[in-house]
Order: sequence, then structure tokens, then C-alpha cells
Amino acid sequence: MKFFIDSADVNEIRAANERGWVDGVTTNPTLVAKSGRSFEDVIKEICTITTGPVSAEVISLKADEMVKEGVALAKWADNVVVKIPMCEDGMIAVKKLTAEGIKTNVTLVFTPMQAILAAKAGATMVSPFVGRLDDIGNDGMAMVNDVVQIYRNYDFATEVLVASVRGPLHLQQAALIGADIATIPYKVMQQMTGHPLTTKGIDMFLADWNKAKGQ
Ligand code: E4P
Repeated sequence: MKFFIDSADVNEIRAANERGWVDGVTTNPTLVAKSGRSFEDVIKEICTITTGPVSAEVISLKADEMVKEGVALAKWADNVVVKIPMCEDGMIAVKKLTAEGIKTNVTLVFTPMQAILAAKAGATMVSPFVGRLDDIGNDGMAMVNDVVQIYRNYDFATEVLVASVRGPLHLQQAALIGADIATIPYKVMQQMTGHPLTTKGIDMFLADWNKAKGQ
């Protein structure tokens, strides 16, 4: 399973990368705005931290403009993946960008049918949003399970990138389902590291060691 970090904060990305947790990065306009930096600067810097795929999202909503933006984004670095919102114009753009050899990540996917359409258009990755579905009382992970199953049934090459991850349990469930990738906020990566019994065990071992040494 590949781990992407869902962040436009280069300090977080460097920290996660140092720990071996970064196979790629996803950003979105909200995360880039939060970084307070220019879109181009931040994406270019992220692309120097990892050689893995780095998703950069288009802002246009018309197919031709999305393609133009996508082609420009793909020139920023070899590992840029163009993130396109799920909509009809988006699918036209995905098909065109794919034909030009540019990788795409179809974002804001909330149903298995949207995921099938993205795969048919040739998306490299599809991003089902788990947390936002949970927020409105749906079962986000059940939707991911359906997408993975459908892609397997028909051998779609599109990778399932579980997005809108809110906690460690989402990761465990995504891994059990067999999703290809999960994109994870750094805070959740840190939550996954710890367990009270691990902390207690470390403290105990150290106390026993010091006792044995008469300290
Ligand atoms: C994915 O690529 C998105 O950036 C992200 O996972 C959205 O998550 P949110 O619902 O926590 O904003």
C-alpha cells in the first residue's frame, strides 16, 4: 500500500518523508491557500522533496482550459500529476491529458459510478473522499470497498487513492480492503504511530534498565 501525504506544508512533507511515510503527495487549493505560498513555488518545492507523484489541482471548470492548465502544471516537474474534479468537462480533460501522456488524479469522487467513469476516461488515479461522505451520514469506506471491487472485476488500471482520511481507523480499513493508496494528513500519520502501551512499555524498560545499573 502506498502512503501519500495530504499537505502543502513543506515542513510536514519533509518530516513525513524522513520517516519513510511519503510515496507521494496530494495537494488541493485549500491546502495551498493555507500554506500562504504561491501555487507554483510550493508545488515545485514539494517535487524536490519526493520523486513520487505530486497532485496539483486545476482551477478551471471548462475542458479546454483544464487541459491548458494541466499541460502547464505537468511542465513544472516530471512527477506532477494533474488533479481534475469529477465532472463532464473534467472527463474530457482527463481523456485529452492521458492521450498526451500526462498523469491525472480525478478528485471529489463520492460514488462508485463516478469512479467507473473516471477509469473509463483513463484516469491514472481516482480519489474517493471517505471523511466527507461520513460527515453527511453515509459510509465512506463502503464506497471505497465497492470501487476496489468493481475495478478488480474489470481489471481497470486506475489506482484507488483513498482521500479525505480523518483518522487511523480509515487507514486500517483502506488497507484491509486493498486500496492502492491512501493520502493522509500528517496529524493522522502521527496518531497512527502512538499507543499508550507502547509509551508505557518504553518507560518501563528504561526504568528497569536504570534500576539494574543502580541509577
Ligand atoms: C485529497 O486529495 C484531498 O486533498 C483531501 O483528502 C481532502 O480531504 P478533506 O475532506 O479532509 O478536506
